[in-house]
Amino acid sequence: MELPTMSRCALLLFTLILHMAIAASAQGGQAVNVSFDHRSLLFNGERQLVVAGIVHYPRSTPAMWPDLLQKSKAGGLNAIQTYVFWNGHEPQEGQFNFEGRFDLVRFVKDVQSAGLYLILRIGPYVCAEWNLGGFPQWLLEVPGIEFRTDNEPFKAKMEVFTRKIVAMMKEHQLFSWQGGPIILAQIENEYGSVQAAYGEAGKRYAYWAADMAKSLDAGVPWIMCQQPDAPGFIVNTCNGFYCDNFQPHRWPMPKMWTENWDGWFGGWLYPMPRRAAEDIAFAVARFYAKGGALMSYYMYHGGTSFGRTTGGPFLTTSYDYDAPLDEYGLIREPKYSHLAALHSAIRACEGALLAVDEPLVQQLGPKQEAHLFTSLGASNGSGPCAAFLSNWDESLPFLATFRGRPYVLPPWSVSVLPDCTTVRFNTAQMEARPKAIMPIVESTTEAASTATSKVTGDRRIVEHVQSGTLEWSHWAEPLSPREHAVTARVPLEQIATTRDTSDYLWYRRSFTLNSTSLPDSNNATYSIMLTAARDLVHFFLNGDYIGHVMGGLNLTAPVSPREDGTENELAVLVETVGLQNFSPRFEQMGAGITGHVLLLRNEIDLAANLTHGNWTHETALEGELRGVFSPEGQRNVTWSAGLGRSVGSPFTWYKTSFASPPGTSPVALDLQSLGKGLVWVNGHGIGRHWPSQIAAPGQCPPCDYRGPFRTDKCYTGCGQPIQRWYHVPREWLQPTDNLLVIFEEQGGDPSGVAVVTLGPEGVPASVETS
Ligand SMILES: *[C@@H]1O[C@H](CO)[C@@H](O)[C@H](O)[C@H]1NC(C)=O
Ligand SMILES: *[C@@H]1O[C@H](CO)[C@@H](O)[C@H](O)[C@H]1NC(C)=O
Ligand SMILES: *[C@@H]1O[C@H](CO)[C@@H](O)[C@H](O)[C@H]1NC(C)=O
Ligand SMILES: *[C@@H]1O[C@H](CO)[C@@H](O)[C@H](O)[C@H]1NC(C)=O
Ligand SMILES: *[C@@H]1O[C@H](CO)[C@@H](O)[C@H](O)[C@H]1NC(C)=O
Ligand SMILES: *[C@@H]1O[C@H](CO)[C@@H](O)[C@H](O)[C@H]1NC(C)=O
Ligand SMILES: *[C@@H]1O[C@H](CO)[C@@H](O)[C@H](O)[C@H]1NC(C)=O
Ligand SMILES: *[C@@H]1O[C@H](CO)[C@@H](O)[C@H](O)[C@H]1NC(C)=O
Repeated sequence: MELPTMSRCALLLFTLILHMAIAASAQGGQAVNVSFDHRSLLFNGERQLVVAGIVHYPRSTPAMWPDLLQKSKAGGLNAIQTYVFWNGHEPQEGQFNFEGRFDLVRFVKDVQSAGLYLILRIGPYVCAEWNLGGFPQWLLEVPGIEFRTDNEPFKAKMEVFTRKIVAMMKEHQLFSWQGGPIILAQIENEYGSVQAAYGEAGKRYAYWAADMAKSLDAGVPWIMCQQPDAPGFIVNTCNGFYCDNFQPHRWPMPKMWTENWDGWFGGWLYPMPRRAAEDIAFAVARFYAKGGALMSYYMYHGGTSFGRTTGGPFLTTSYDYDAPLDEYGLIREPKYSHLAALHSAIRACEGALLAVDEPLVQQLGPKQEAHLFTSLGASNGSGPCAAFLSNWDESLPFLATFRGRPYVLPPWSVSVLPDCTTVRFNTAQMEARPKAIMPIVESTTEAASTATSKVTGDRRIVEHVQSGTLEWSHWAEPLSPREHAVTARVPLEQIATTRDTSDYLWYRRSFTLNSTSLPDSNNATYSIMLTAARDLVHFFLNGDYIGHVMGGLNLTAPVSPREDGTENELAVLVETVGLQNFSPRFEQMGAGITGHVLLLRNEIDLAANLTHGNWTHETALEGELRGVFSPEGQRNVTWSAGLGRSVGSPFTWYKTSFASPPGTSPVALDLQSLGKGLVWVNGHGIGRHWPSQIAAPGQCPPCDYRGPFRTDKCYTGCGQPIQRWYHVPREWLQPTDNLLVIFEEQGGDPSGVAVVTLGPEGVPASVETS
């Protein structure tokens, strides 16, 4: 037989493809087709439950990933979920960064090596308490752009990035049908919660996003969360504290919970939120009891919003989230073990859960019910049978009778019976709780002695090193006007001016005041008012620092201007504390001085309207421009040895060096003695520090796991700095001479700064001997 005529190149290509396919199946796992029916996802046609946890790769370092993923697997997860962070990957249009913490391919491969699936939430709007919700700043400058609506310039840029990510995953054989770990992909993010604000254009955009995603041929199902009107080929999923009552919007689609909020994000204006493990377990058990197919903890590891990546405004650098793996990647007990035991109980039920289309529901009491998963054969004891017995009474236990047997159901709990008879796990009983854990709150009420609330205690310092032994130098940030400034007739919007290269923008203008002819001229009082400004504003007049005010409406500061007709120099240093990451049209909110600038006399009279005038704008701190935070740039200025009289002076740079603490425990900076500013180690941005923000005392009443969770239900750390410790990944350290640079804007005292290593929360400190 004659061979078909084929060119050499075509043959070569054919051979290459064959080799690539062989290589792919050899390196990767089995090729798996993912689809779904009304009960669950199907892996090569087989139903399987997914228990996932979210880990955001840029909130840790690559050296931490394998350990985080191994702990996730050991905690009973079979999948990891992450967003994709556009502004980290494309900081300038067309200039990409897939290195270090942003090495997405490496992260996905690590997930696969750990034997886990991956759910890839491309967005590319991600919210995520991440700067500008994940959008790059340059996107704001695209002519005619409006984010997240039926706007051609926006859609074009969104499509280019989404297409790039899907192509990159395909190129590296990372989709499940290629033998990779990716089983689902997400387009957009919680759009349904803002869509109404965009009217018909919003609806058109959501459909466009779905069609665009589909056109990319990713080969895995696409999801949209909180999108009840998603087109038929997209699976709508639930986000929330509880999702047991959620129903898929179309048939046949499985019931999936993309974000189980197992804690909450930290903010500079409230104490650190907590959520009790018993309540999370209750929510998860209720979800699977009522036919849930996929659940994902938001977060399983929250980590750190390093540098200036945190969203806002006013969100902490720590993104700990009270997750089962704490900010440092340490196991948080009792949450981790309690949920691991739950996962294992659910796995023991999996055969029964997936054998039926829907559970049988049996009422056990007014607030009690059973969900029974049994196929026909089970009635004579031969088929699989599993049951969940729920009691959502918020205070009382209940004595239930189920299939002729008595069961005590603690309040706000679910018992899991993998064989329909034996209680393998109850969500309110923390049997897996290690002895070393000392809850800070044990509240027992008269109504139900079984109801105790256990919230993990404060982090303990394992080793306190180099406190007070650090040798400091300082350099005062120049506060006088710079030569190069942008002038305008009114104060300019901040993000457009700084392009978000810095938190800081100076606004300056001069004005004269001649009030000698006015009555009360000897005792008039003056104040400057900014009718709208954000996020934090420092006022200076004639070189004197007046003080700072938090952003908002009608910010005022008392001033004493010269009233004799000579020039007054007004300077306002405005800083962003994380760019807005949420709300309809958040990209239009802007930052800096967005209102008018008024000089008020005796609090009510308008002495001068300073809005219109000759304003100059200077982006960034001088120290930032000179790069003094980096090993090379620190030589750009002349530092003075010691702390001298700098202590207590705002707007001062400090530097020191330290040796890496021995051992492998996570390293942190104890910055309790500082005010607010920015920190770098070896040029890496550690984040914004603000330990002078103290959690108000009295906001931390005893926490009770019973009853529906709210974000302000359970706080810890009242009366203490909202964030005292700042993570320094060991990956960024060398054995000796690590350069620590701090910009301190509130006059904090660096002599109290310490380099510490930390152990898990709640475990009594045991000093490491070195
Ligand atoms: C996956 O699906 C494709 C297309 O539907 C099919 O050709 C292929 O055989 C399937 N592979 C497996 C492993 O089921
Ligand atoms: C149980 O019932 C099923 C269906 O009625 C039947 O096929 C099976 O043989 C029975 N098994 C036993 C052990 O009786
Ligand atoms: C200023 O002094 C005059 C006369 O002593 C008095 O009548 C007036 O109330 C004072 N004004 C203020 C704002 O204190
Ligand atoms: C701000 O000040 C103006 C003028 O005094 C007043 O009308 C307005 O109600 C104030 N707004 C707020 C939010 O205080
Ligand atoms: C201020 O006003 C007074 C009264 O009108 C006038 O005498 C004086 O010259 C003015 N001073 C300046 C510097 O303009
Ligand atoms: C101040 O000036 C601005 C800009 O000219 C103007 O819009 C605003 O209404 C003025 N405010 C007052 C209180 O006069
Ligand atoms: C505005 O202020 C700048 C800096 O003080 C000065 O150089 C410039 O001449 C002023 N422009 C006008 C129009 O007054
Ligand atoms: C030192 O400062 C100059 C400007 O003053 C700047 O161009 C240079 O980049 C700085 N060096 C570093 C390492 O940042």
